[in-house]
Amino acid sequence: MAQAQSTGTAAHGGVRTDAPNVVVPSMLAADASRLGEECRALDAAGADRIHWDVMDGRFVPNITFGPDVVAACRGSSARPFEAHLMIVEPDLILDRYVEAGCGLIIVHAESTRHLHRSLGRVHDAGARAGVAVNPATPIDAIAHVLDLVDLVLVMTVNPGFGGQRYLATMEPKLRAVRAMVRATGRPIDVEVDGGIDAETAAGAAGAGANVFVAGTAVQRDPEGPAHAIASIRSAADEASTAWRSS
Ligand code: DX5
Ligand code: ZN
Repeated sequence: MAQAQSTGTAAHGGVRTDAPNVVVPSMLAADASRLGEECRALDAAGADRIHWDVMDGRFVPNITFGPDVVAACRGSSARPFEAHLMIVEPDLILDRYVEAGCGLIIVHAESTRHLHRSLGRVHDAGARAGVAVNPATPIDAIAHVLDLVDLVLVMTVNPGFGGQRYLATMEPKLRAVRAMVRATGRPIDVEVDGGIDAETAAGAAGAGANVFVAGTAVQRDPEGPAHAIASIRSAADEASTAWRSS
C-alpha cells in the first residue's frame, strides 16, 4: 500500500520544504457502529490517510480500537492507515497494528522506557515510525531519535478524547520542532492532532505543521466531511507559505 507521503522535491539545506499539507481524519469521531462505511466515506471525502486513535485506559483514560478492529476495516479504505498508540508498553502489540494494515505507527515518547528501541521495533515490523509528544513534554525528549522517524506528532490537546480545545500555546513548540527537523536534512513530517479545524490548522501550519489530524471538525462539519477536509487543507496551504519560502 503506497503511503501518502510527502513527495516534494524543492529543498532548503537538503530538507524538502514543499512537503504537501496532508489531512488525516481521526476514526475516534466516527460512528463506531459503522466503521467500515465511515472509512469508505472518508476516502470519498478526500482523506489523505486515516488515523486510528489506539487507547488502552492506562496511558489515557479511554479505551478504543484493538488491532482486530483496524484489520476488519482495512479492506474498506484505499488510503494508508496510521496508528496513534496512546498505550503503555507499545512494544508488546505494535506489530499487530502493522499486521492489521497500518503503514505508520506513532509511539508516544512518554509511553516507553526505551523509546529508541521501540522505534526500532516499528521498523523491524516493516512500518514507518512516528514519535508523539504530549503538551507538557519538551522536544528534547525526541532529539536523539530523529534519525529513526518519518514523522513527529506534536499533540495540541492532552490525549484521550476528541472534541477538546486546540492549545495554541503549542505553536512555539511546533516552530522549534520544524527547525529541529529541518536541521536533520531528513524529510520528516510534522503532524498536529487535537482541536484541528480550518481556523486552528492555519495557526499550526503557520508554525510549521504539514500533517493535520482532525476528528470532530471532519465529522461535525454541517457541509460534510469533504468540505471540512478541503477547508483544512486550503487553510494550511495559505498559512504555510512563510516557512516554506524561508
Ligand atoms: C486525542 C486523539 C486525537 C483526537 C482528535 O487523544 O489523539 O486524534 O481524536 O480529536 P478532535 O479532532 O476531535 O479534536
Ligand atoms: Zn490521535
